[in-house]
Amino acid sequence: RVIDCRGLIVCPGLIDMHVHLREPGEEWKETIETGTKAAVAGGFTAVACMPNTKPPNDNAEVTRFILKKAEEAGLARVYPVACITRGQKGESLTEFGELKEAGAVALSDDGYPVSDAGLMRLALEYAKNFDLPIISHSEELALSKGGHVNEGLASAKLGLKGIPAEGEAIAIFREAMLAKLTGTPIHIAHVSTKEGVEIIRRAKAEGIPVTAETAPHYFSLTEEATFGYQTNAKVNPPLRSEADREAIIKALADGTLDVIATDHAPHSPLEKLCEFEKAACGLIGLETALPLALRLVREKVISLSRLVELMSCNPAKILGVPGGSLKPGEVADVTVFDPEKRWVVDEKALHSKSKNTPFLGWEMQGQTVITIVSGKIVFSRL
Ligand code: DOR
Repeated sequence: RVIDCRGLIVCPGLIDMHVHLREPGEEWKETIETGTKAAVAGGFTAVACMPNTKPPNDNAEVTRFILKKAEEAGLARVYPVACITRGQKGESLTEFGELKEAGAVALSDDGYPVSDAGLMRLALEYAKNFDLPIISHSEELALSKGGHVNEGLASAKLGLKGIPAEGEAIAIFREAMLAKLTGTPIHIAHVSTKEGVEIIRRAKAEGIPVTAETAPHYFSLTEEATFGYQTNAKVNPPLRSEADREAIIKALADGTLDVIATDHAPHSPLEKLCEFEKAACGLIGLETALPLALRLVREKVISLSRLVELMSCNPAKILGVPGGSLKPGEVADVTVFDPEKRWVVDEKALHSKSKNTPFLGWEMQGQTVITIVSGKIVFSRL
């Protein structure tokens, strides 16, 4: 079949290394099928799914279940991320070898920081033997617990307990020191602050093996999106200040941040149409990530090839999975998108089962046209 791609961009399949697919256990929010449908509609040919499912992905059976569901859906590739600690309780390590054998590509207690530095050190040393990257949810719970929004403008305006930027920086600093101590790479999830970026920049300059990601909401929005108690803008880490947003953008451009990942976190209306303090944290991101990243290209902050590095090549390298580059003769994962196409985010048109995005009603520019996984068209707007 010949596809006329004149005026379109053809690039290696996008890889989102941080999504929550909610299966098993919370299928009312998302399933592996609906989540991967949203992924391919957003141009992602692969996603890495976080282990805070119910039960958590802390054993080979859950890992295999996820892979089976993904195969049945037949849409995007799904790379399971398994727990670092049993039940994500931060007390004892999981069986890394068994998890790897079952198909896990990385380890993380995303959603729950591993508070014990000694246990994290052990995890890094142990993970090295299995070549499993560790993804750190860098949060200092002693400072963030009970917080709902950024500490600063938002906490003052809304009269709610805040989550200080310094807590993220403290946690990232610890991870950088542990990576140095163990000589094992560590990947920092969802960086949201200027202070966090500065620690990563210094660590990289020293040659410490640290990589890091941010999410489109951290470079597109500030804490002001939560004003008026907008629960769709409640997320952890929280939306930050304008200075933080600018620092994140600079870090994407200068190589301090390596990856744009969505932290796609579906929640049902029940969990969002409620009091701000009771609302769940998280927002969906798979179908808006590409146009939000393309805004940075249009604003000439990053080049189009840098976008492909951030959303395809680097996640593939960090996770050690195929993709990122098209080698002659290989059956490819390919994303084709129209960088000019304008569209409005309308909940009825979203493929995700949940609709919790602060971008509802926004006009976007740039849209996926065709998504090809392993040579097969899995999504097409043609
Ligand atoms: O806002 C968030 N939502 N942050 C996390 O770390 C977890 C996620 C979720 O699972 O809903």
